[in-house]
Amino acid sequence: MACLADHLVWTLLLFLPLLLLSPPSSSTFTLFDVLDFGADPTGAADSTLALRDAWTLACDHGGIFATILVRRGSYLLGPVRFRGPCKSRHVSMRMGGATLVAPPDYRVLGGSSSWLSFDGVSNTSVHGGVLDAKGPSLWACKDSGRNCPGGATTLSFTNSNNIRIKDLTSVDSQMFHISINRCRNVRIQGVRVKADGDSPNTDGIHVQLSTNVLILLSDIATGDDCISIGPGTRNLRIQRVRCGPGHGISIGSLARSENEPGVQNIIVKNTTFQGTQNGLRIKSWARPSTGFVQGVHFIDARMINAHNPIIIDQNYCPNDSQTCPNQESSVKISDILYRGIQGTSATPIAVRFDCNAENPCTGIRMRNVYLTCLDDEVTRSSCANANGEALGTVQPRSCLYENS
Ligand SMILES: *[C@@H]1O[C@H](CO)[C@@H](O)[C@H](O)[C@H]1NC(C)=O
Ligand SMILES: *[C@@H]1O[C@H](CO)[C@@H](O)[C@H](O)[C@H]1NC(C)=O
Ligand SMILES: *[C@@H]1O[C@H](CO)[C@@H](O)[C@H](O)[C@H]1NC(C)=O
Repeated sequence: MACLADHLVWTLLLFLPLLLLSPPSSSTFTLFDVLDFGADPTGAADSTLALRDAWTLACDHGGIFATILVRRGSYLLGPVRFRGPCKSRHVSMRMGGATLVAPPDYRVLGGSSSWLSFDGVSNTSVHGGVLDAKGPSLWACKDSGRNCPGGATTLSFTNSNNIRIKDLTSVDSQMFHISINRCRNVRIQGVRVKADGDSPNTDGIHVQLSTNVLILLSDIATGDDCISIGPGTRNLRIQRVRCGPGHGISIGSLARSENEPGVQNIIVKNTTFQGTQNGLRIKSWARPSTGFVQGVHFIDARMINAHNPIIIDQNYCPNDSQTCPNQESSVKISDILYRGIQGTSATPIAVRFDCNAENPCTGIRMRNVYLTCLDDEVTRSSCANANGEALGTVQPRSCLYENS
């Protein structure tokens, strides 16, 4: 809730008095209409430079609120970097009714790490709009086994503070749809992600190395993780999010590198998983690492035919012998609560805690978990090196080792 409160304070206490005390003058609100910078709303001509120039002027303007307006229409756009720091105190991009479309040749975006990338900005918001990255041609290239570029993340924020993304739709990203990296105070609300259930690496929202992040009221259908939570994520709250198709909400993969910060204080509340490969997952490579996961609350989730509704996999290692020679994980996983998780599992093993003998999972608590199997099979739990306790109704029956 700290996050929510912060944002309310930000809007009410700060904006309102500003408006009341200083009558709007030309430098309080300034509008930068991309049409004035030569953007083409028919989508025929490229609008990349128009958007970049509008950003540069809005960012350097120095007023209190600078707004970049992208009017109704379709805009053809290559990779753009929106860099800070800005002289303007708040910069917002309003795109309601607009669709930004990537060029048909996937190589134009494919070689960049991001399509729209915001770097080093503060007090910046992106509101409305559809981002259509035209991913399928790159996915097809990857499927064919040919040599293809890695692909671009559709929208990324890096090294940025006080960020809002609201009512935005991302369609068919080449890689991740939205990425939040090294940011503080981020609010993502009313986002829709749409991509094929088979599309490779198209995570909906990826968060890492970031603090105070709120993801609300969003609907994510994609081919990879709905939301992926990487190393160094602290104080993340996810609430009222629907996932599916895709791989569910995942903390990890962790221990990708030997030296990485932990994941701490995560709340995932009131979520729905429909036909996903996983529901609530924590996943770590079986390798040495300084990483850890501590304090995760999974509360009120509804599973509709999810394949692995609840899963901790501390022994992840697709290529055993080379990548995890000793199969030891040093990523400590502790204080994980599952409360009010119910619905149907597509497989009989509805709960799987596969932890490492060298470094067992501790403090797992299950309360009111009720998962049934679609075809009347009895659901089961599977535990390895998993310590904790079950309270209230818990089905499948808990296999946690109650050692305390
Ligand atoms: C961000 O907004 C706050 C509140 O209006 C303001 O105090 C601060 O200076 C802004 N930050 C930047 C970098 O402009
Ligand atoms: C979950 O969210 C939905 C709307 O997204 C709401 O109708 C419902 O009451 C919420 N359920 C709980 C248990 O909070
Ligand atoms: C596993 O090894 C194969 C062959 O060495 C490689 O192509 C593949 O990318 C590896 N997979 C992972 C997840 O490391």
